[in-house]
Amino acid sequence: MRNLSHAERCFQDIPGTFHGPHVYTAAVSMFSQQDLAKGRALFLELGAYMGQSTCFMARLIKRRRAPIELHVIDFWAPLLENDAGASTSFAWIPSNHRASALAAGKGEMSMAWAHNMITSGSWDAISRVVHGSDTDMNIVSRYSDDSVSFIYLDTSHGYWQTKRELQLWWPKLKASGSLLCGDDYDAAKRDTPRSYAAALHAFFEEHGARLFDWGGNQFCVAKGNIDARPTGSHAPRLRAQQRR
Ligand SMILES: C[S@@+](CC[C@H](N)C(=O)[O-])C[C@H]1O[C@@H](n2cnc3c(N)ncnc32)[C@H](O)[C@@H]1O
Repeated sequence: MRNLSHAERCFQDIPGTFHGPHVYTAAVSMFSQQDLAKGRALFLELGAYMGQSTCFMARLIKRRRAPIELHVIDFWAPLLENDAGASTSFAWIPSNHRASALAAGKGEMSMAWAHNMITSGSWDAISRVVHGSDTDMNIVSRYSDDSVSFIYLDTSHGYWQTKRELQLWWPKLKASGSLLCGDDYDAAKRDTPRSYAAALHAFFEEHGARLFDWGGNQFCVAKGNIDARPTGSHAPRLRAQQRR
């Protein structure tokens, strides 16, 4: 039997709901560029679940030796044998995911994530793991305003939580050039009251930023000297380069 590549391991061995390989690839390409990557670019993944998306990002960072510091934030609630009828945050997960998480993490989702990161060879590309809520001010205040290059939002997708997350994390992005993208975006729902898409559009309209649909349920919004429109190669570019 042939050895699986790192990318194949991310999707075959790790249960998940990640739809944004093209977004991660574009973000790593952009922030690997010499002129942007003065020092290491700070990337935050908000919502990691069992690590499918983290694994894919780790693979890109390792393969390109990219100057990127990756932090992962998730509150990873404990996982019960059967959440049916219970109101835990993992009541929604499919039974095959639950079985995998119980086997890998022994009932702790954070352990399932860590197990998957080690067995997929992703662990050494991750700089920090933060076990807690991304709306906890003790966590938010660890990050300075104007310090983060890329944020990937993939948490609850609830209307009020999304608004709060954007309010807390948007100022953390670098004014000179940064990108915020996220999963599970459905453009058709932007006018549906209390939807995730409505929360995103309301926030960015209020902040004078334009949201772009990247396909595959992904969106991106840029700050500063970056053009967040998806291109043929799905690579966002520096505005200065576009003018050439
Ligand atoms: C849709 S899953 C993430 C999927 C993941 N990116 C993947 O590749 O499969 C959502 C995750 O967000 C986490 N989450 C939800 N709300 C959160 C919050 N406020 N702070 C931190 N993590 C949160 C949940 O624990 C869950 O693991």
